[in-house]
Amino acid sequence: MSEKKQIVMSGIRPTGYLHLGNYFGAIRNYVKMQDDFTCYFMVADLHSLTTHPDTKELKSNVHRVLAENIACGLDPDKVAFYCQSHVHETAELYLYLNMLAYKGELEKTATFKDKVRFNPENVNAGLLTYPVLQAADILIHRATYVPVGKDQEQHLEMSRNYANRFNHRYAEVFPEPHAFNYNQELIRIPSLDGTGKMSKSENHMATLYLADEDEQIRKKVMKAKTDSGPVEQNAPKPDYIENVFSLMKLVSAPDVILKFDEDYNKCTIRYGDMKKQLAEDMVQFIAPIREKINGILHNPVYLKDVMEKGAAKANESANATMKEVRAAMGLNYY
Ligand code: TRP
Repeated sequence: MSEKKQIVMSGIRPTGYLHLGNYFGAIRNYVKMQDDFTCYFMVADLHSLTTHPDTKELKSNVHRVLAENIACGLDPDKVAFYCQSHVHETAELYLYLNMLAYKGELEKTATFKDKVRFNPENVNAGLLTYPVLQAADILIHRATYVPVGKDQEQHLEMSRNYANRFNHRYAEVFPEPHAFNYNQELIRIPSLDGTGKMSKSENHMATLYLADEDEQIRKKVMKAKTDSGPVEQNAPKPDYIENVFSLMKLVSAPDVILKFDEDYNKCTIRYGDMKKQLAEDMVQFIAPIREKINGILHNPVYLKDVMEKGAAKANESANATMKEVRAAMGLNYY
């Protein structure tokens, strides 16, 4: 890894299966970044404990995140792809940053308020300081670019605050991390039921997962919301029809899309045929990724090797930062 490149860091929570929205949103960004920057991509297993104290499924969830991201093109030889819990110094930095984080601002964090509303029985201190742990993840590599979605903006702003507070109180150790994405407006992948975008927590029938079997993919696509067709030539498309075209643009050939677009404008479109075509093109797109994921999941030796290699790279960077942190804080007594 070259020293001059900007440092990129991002974390992925090991909850749920990857879907098409994650693929075209986050992962494609990661894969592009791995050639241009020094990248640290982390499975946020410790963060998952703030909301999922039961760890029965943690191991298989961590393996799945690793397998899915690698199957989508993340290359463990190009980036440091590691588990949060394998970098122990993160917990140390988290402790120091906690002294620079104020209760009032933590309580105002939107994600915290959401989680309290969602699960009032388990409002633990780890949940409150979730953004502090995230700041530790980022700052421990002195990363400047953080590929994340809009929902993480507030956490990044808090990371910048902690970095600046540390630098002012002790010594200049941390650069400011900022959100980074290649495509300014992150691509929005519409859900199949015509409402909102694909998401893990919403209707599973409206979301295409990279783990879906061919028949499931066909079934979901054939259920996509349409209507009886346009009644007037060259009419504007309703949102849910626009959505079907948007999905087609992700996976189908340009001439195929053009044909259905012309059919639409001439009022000769048959949505059943269009969805059959889309289903087959989706299967062509998803099936090889799914097979790759399953291959990796069945290879624990490879997964162990990935995690060890990732941890070694991440620990090297973390140790170098922590030496500076302890010196800056005066935690060096001899
Ligand atoms: N909070 C992020 C999410 O919910 C996951 C995450 C943990 C993360 N640590 C990070 C993201 C560090 C970017 C950088 O998706």
